[in-house]
Amino acid sequence: MSGFGYYRPDAQAAGDAAPTTSAQEQPTPEEAGDEEPTLPPDAELDLAADEVAAKVEEVLATLDVELVGLAPVKRRVREIASLLLVDRARRQFGLTTSRPTLHMSFTGGPGTGKTTVALRMAEMLHALGYLRVPRVHTVTRDDLVGQFIGHTAPKTKEALAKAAGGVLFIDEAYYLFRPENERDYGQEVIEILLTEMEKERGDLVVIFAGYPDRMATFFGANPGLSSRVPHHIAFEDYTHEELMQIADLMLLGESFRFDEEARAAFDSYLTLRQQRPNFSNARSVRNAIERSRLRQARRLVELSRPLTRDDLVTLTAADIRGSSVFAEASQMSG
Ligand SMILES: Nc1ncnc2c1ncn2[C@@H]1O[C@H](COP(=O)(O)OP(=O)(O)O)[C@@H](O)[C@H]1O
Ligand SMILES: [Mg+2]
Repeated sequence: MSGFGYYRPDAQAAGDAAPTTSAQEQPTPEEAGDEEPTLPPDAELDLAADEVAAKVEEVLATLDVELVGLAPVKRRVREIASLLLVDRARRQFGLTTSRPTLHMSFTGGPGTGKTTVALRMAEMLHALGYLRVPRVHTVTRDDLVGQFIGHTAPKTKEALAKAAGGVLFIDEAYYLFRPENERDYGQEVIEILLTEMEKERGDLVVIFAGYPDRMATFFGANPGLSSRVPHHIAFEDYTHEELMQIADLMLLGESFRFDEEARAAFDSYLTLRQQRPNFSNARSVRNAIERSRLRQARRLVELSRPLTRDDLVTLTAADIRGSSVFAEASQMSG
């Protein structure tokens, strides 16, 4: 059942079978793991009836419905899930004792779903017993690097403490590495991280996130780090069609819809927006929808008639076309 590996506050299964732990102090994760009884060699482990496997499947199913597209990402997450389910089974038979290395890199542009998948990954690793909490603590360079000498280590350690037991998600991790400045405090962060990541019995999973090319440079320049990161997941930019589907999914989630002309207008909006600087995939879609809702609200309060349910759920072409992206595009074309 749930008993294996690392200490989990909700794990009670070990109670009957492993009485030795109860008499001791609160077990550290690794001690709890060591006390697990090993299944006899002739035992059978039915993953189809296993509650942890079911929970993992539930997380994977959530990922499937909440994110449009991303087939390669979903496939990789599923592969990692299988690997860990088997690792867990082997552990129960006493075939493995070491904790697998779970640090990862998520590469892709902004708004491609990295943070969302990190959260599901944390839930999955928690269900499998590799994390104490299904939590992601997100940081960037500024959260880790201090301004002055002596400030960096305490800052980094504080971030590690906040993330302990869960996932430390380092966004745009390559900003920690500034080869042009050999005294950069980022190097100190990398060294502390490395020590933490090398801990055999660590209870922290680090996910490095950012643009693929810069991440490749970062790992290339830090082979020590790179060798502790066995799992790489690549997030592609979304196609125009996928972005439209993402818009529909977001609208559905908040009980809104485009009418026919609004849909066509949003289609044009996306075409223009994608060509502009700082396009951030699904995040830009979410922001555009939020601004359209503002325009809808303004339009509705100015109506001189009672509002219907239909009024409230519908975004019209005017709500979309009010965007400055259209105004700027028409200016540029003369
Ligand atoms: N494939 C997708 N389908 C639906 N919504 C998505 C998808 N990818 C991202 N989003 C949404 O877009 C926003 C940004 O996603 P996020 O995971 O923060 O991206 P990143 O971390 O790569 O910048 C979130 O609101 C998220 O729910
Ligand atoms: Mg993010």
